[in-house]
Amino acid sequence: MNSYDTISVLSTNSDLLRGNMISEIIRSRRSIYADDYLKKSISEDLILEILTNASWAPTHKMTEPWRFVVLQGKQLINYGKFMADYYLPIYSKTAPNQVALAEKLRYLRNYPLPASCIIAIILNRSASVTIPEWEEVAAVSCAVQNMALTCTAYDLGSYWATNGPAIEFVKSLGLLENEQSLGLFFIGHYDAGAYDIEKKRTPIEQKTTWLN
Ligand SMILES: Cc1cc2nc3c(=O)[nH]c(=O)nc-3n(C[C@H](O)[C@H](O)[C@H](O)COP(=O)(O)O)c2cc1C
Repeated sequence: MNSYDTISVLSTNSDLLRGNMISEIIRSRRSIYADDYLKKSISEDLILEILTNASWAPTHKMTEPWRFVVLQGKQLINYGKFMADYYLPIYSKTAPNQVALAEKLRYLRNYPLPASCIIAIILNRSASVTIPEWEEVAAVSCAVQNMALTCTAYDLGSYWATNGPAIEFVKSLGLLENEQSLGLFFIGHYDAGAYDIEKKRTPIEQKTTWLN
């Protein structure tokens, strides 16, 4: 598409409005971590809306290579304990003293509790269609981005965690042979007015080549 086409595509007010809206949502999405969540619930309908938007991600050959597990209530407590157990051998060596170690473990146990829910992200590879793994991971990543953008549109904080405990916890839920853990997606209410994290992006001109 050349610049003339772009202008003609955005020639109506409603197109401009939609263009502005999508840009605003994409650019205002931030990873918001559980430390900043307000410990408020969200409705099952809204969780389903977020997951339904995930399922509208593009997938090569329509494999829809994902499975989600919604974790709430006792599962948040379980994940806190899991994180503390996961890091215990590491922090036992690095903590300056027992008090600092106990404080770190307490922080980890409590960390997930303010989340409204956490969604386990599972790559479920297609058995019937041969698709390179990276394409299926790419499709799940598109699905996760749809979730994040939906959260932003509803003023919810979210982020994708792929650290050791997140990956291992999803495995502990029980995966099929054709499945892999892709970590956890946190969702929580936060005080958007009080939240001001500046994240810069490299000007896209520096990463774009135009060929005619
Ligand atoms: C695939 C993927 C995995 C990520 N894993 C983690 C993680 O394990 N822990 C974390 O703190 N943030 C994680 N993030 C969030 C990034 O740190 C964050 O997107 C980046 O700092 C840019 O900030 P922004 O999302 O607010 O724009 C992950 C993001 C992506 C896309």
